[in-house]
Amino acid sequence: MIIITGASKGIGKYLIESYLDRGEESIIGTYLSTVPQDHVDKFERVDVCDSSQVAEFIEKISGTASKVTLINCAGISYSAYTHKSDPDEWKKVVETNLFGSYHFIRALLPLMREQKFGRVINFSSVVAVKPTPGISAYSASKAALWGMSKSLAIENASLNVTVNNINLGYSELGMISSVPEEYRKKITAQIPAGYLCEPQDILSTVEYLRNTKYITGSSIDLSGGLV
Ligand SMILES: NC(=O)c1ccc[n+]([C@@H]2O[C@H](COP(=O)([O-])OP(=O)(O)OC[C@H]3O[C@@H](n4cnc5c(N)ncnc54)[C@H](OP(=O)(O)O)[C@@H]3O)[C@@H](O)[C@H]2O)c1
Repeated sequence: MIIITGASKGIGKYLIESYLDRGEESIIGTYLSTVPQDHVDKFERVDVCDSSQVAEFIEKISGTASKVTLINCAGISYSAYTHKSDPDEWKKVVETNLFGSYHFIRALLPLMREQKFGRVINFSSVVAVKPTPGISAYSASKAALWGMSKSLAIENASLNVTVNNINLGYSELGMISSVPEEYRKKITAQIPAGYLCEPQDILSTVEYLRNTKYITGSSIDLSGGLV
């Protein structure tokens, strides 16, 4: 089974649609506020920040879930220079991007360990280490995924449960849609490859991590050379 959090928009939506197009039946996506219009039976509303909602959802699907790949796509950003930032907004970013992934991983690990199979793929970002002003909460939350994954990797490696991150640079999909065209051009100009990440490269990287049992605890740059 493939579980994709944040599958109602952007990258998560692209991934679930791609898998459905390929005929994947054992798949479920989650959303929070954007109610999916297509394949509604393949979606559940789950707030990743709420550990009880996550646990309830996993309990509900655990009877039919086997060979689970968890793709943690749900994420938010918040732009503000830190000295002007709102602590509640800052905290929400970490709660969504870090705790949200943790809640899903924690709830699924017993099943993955028991089945001796699990693939966890988190969406991190190059800004985990690329100094970028105005997004300290986002950068902190994405960097924390790296550390968390290292620890999780060695806790679970002997049970064929792998945990990895994709450090995305800038994609054609998702959050970029809220970036003004002028700034978008500036971002693109910084990317050595000269263009934003194309959706199919995200899918092929996810598939690579799903299909490779010996990579665990890694954070793979998918950034067109942007570091
Ligand atoms: N796009 C990029 O260039 C880029 C670059 C680097 C990293 N990333 C990472 O890749 C992931 C996907 O990004 P994206 O650009 O596709 O983002 P997006 O288009 O903004 O979509 C975010 C998704 O997260 C869901 N979400 C947010 N808060 C949630 C919560 N509390 N509970 C459940 N779902 C929640 C949203 O659901 P609702 O709409 O239903 O609320 C939505 O489906 C994120 O983790 C992002 O940080 C993206």
